[in-house]
Amino acid sequence: MATALDRVIYGASQGLRISWYWGQKLLAASRSEEDEALPEELHRRLPDRRRLLRDLAVLLERDWRNIAAGHYRLPPDLLPNPLPRLRRSRRFFADLERVEARRRAGDGSEVFRKHGKGSYPRYYLQNFHYQTDGYLSHRSAELYDHQVEVLFGGAADAMRRQALVPLRRELERRDARTARLLDLACGTGRFLREVKSNYPRLPVTGLDLSPFYLDAARRALGRWSRVGFLAAPAEATGLREASFDVVLAIYLFHELPRKQRRLVAAEIARVLKPGGLFIFLDSIQRGDEPDYDGLLERFPQRLHEPYYAQYVREDLAELFGGAGLRQESSETVYFSKLMTFRNGAG
Ligand SMILES: C[S@@+](CC[C@H](N)C(=O)[O-])C[C@H]1O[C@@H](n2cnc3c(N)ncnc32)[C@H](O)[C@@H]1O
Repeated sequence: MATALDRVIYGASQGLRISWYWGQKLLAASRSEEDEALPEELHRRLPDRRRLLRDLAVLLERDWRNIAAGHYRLPPDLLPNPLPRLRRSRRFFADLERVEARRRAGDGSEVFRKHGKGSYPRYYLQNFHYQTDGYLSHRSAELYDHQVEVLFGGAADAMRRQALVPLRRELERRDARTARLLDLACGTGRFLREVKSNYPRLPVTGLDLSPFYLDAARRALGRWSRVGFLAAPAEATGLREASFDVVLAIYLFHELPRKQRRLVAAEIARVLKPGGLFIFLDSIQRGDEPDYDGLLERFPQRLHEPYYAQYVREDLAELFGGAGLRQESSETVYFSKLMTFRNGAG
């Protein structure tokens, strides 16, 4: 049960966190070149800083209410060690020059030039976000979470935590010691950490194509048991049919080409048990928050996101419905969209 002191600690820690990442967002923006002009109609749909901060405050209030209601616990890194944060921040700014150079040149294919064909799907061999090494190095895995938090002004973890609410509802219907959870494209394990801090006995599997990100996830989850990892493509996991009660995909689909989105949707339906739950969290789409539409248009121009423009127009209910996943809910949480789907075979 959260106490008044918890509220004070939560408020203070999130205040510090937002100042830390927003400060760096502004500093990084001041070192970046101006964007290309947007059409007038979309210019009117660019929220200003005050609006973004107001909406961020709404997200944090919602996060706190969920904690107070017992949907999930206080974040695991409420009082972080400042030294690793400072170190990462220094590396982030040291790397920014290289990111900017790729952005100016519109060059998102350094990774392909380095790795060539063969070991990974072609669409994956790109410098998503113009980040150094794409997803394929320890250096990239070390900087990734920092880059994402700077991009969202410190809101990324709070947005991910919203997926814990439908997860809790689902685990109330099942046994949290034996139900099995799969995090597809788990990255460095940010969300799995939140899951295990709430359900230490729940057996979880994190899957990702990047062995480097999986190494980071393994370290982040080292203190917990019943955690497995798998390096495999989400569209062909090799996992047993109908073997998971819950599957999650967080910030994966906007990075997939249209055809792969369908293959991954089918794979989710295949590995989920009949009646199992799929929890989707990814970028909002056009029209979800009309005042943000200009930002959605600008995002793939600023950060290399080759499939994003098509993703924001994709009919997700139809995409997952085609695989047999029936939509149960949909809501927006700041820059994200949280949806749940039931595996229709049940
Ligand atoms: C934007 S990150 C999101 C990571 C994580 N879910 C999070 O919340 O931070 C996208 C992740 O998807 C992984 N990925 C992209 N395409 C994939 C695929 N086809 N199969 C498995 N993982 C993939 C990348 O390696 C990366 O870790």
